[in-house]
Amino acid sequence: MNHPFTRNLVRSGRELEIPADKLATDVLIESAIPIDIKCSGGICGACKCRLVSGEVEHRDLVLSKMQREEADILCQSRAAEAGGVVEEVL
Ligand code: FES
Repeated sequence: MNHPFTRNLVRSGRELEIPADKLATDVLIESAIPIDIKCSGGICGACKCRLVSGEVEHRDLVLSKMQREEADILCQSRAAEAGGVVEEVL
């Protein structure tokens, strides 16, 4: 089940609220943040981003356990808990 959370973008200084019914990449596009997207399904890795902080629920099929310590896949990852904050280099 999805829940809403916040993505903080440290490079652009933006703070985006991601509603439960949207992918983070949908909100990034709506907010005119330039990102690479191909599959939107956590498969291709095009939307990989450097993770700064936050408890993340990774739902991709791309990253290894070690990679998940410092990266996430924007189209599928969400904060592990409702109202959580995930910080990215974006
Ligand atoms: S767009 Fe393919 S993994 Fe996100």
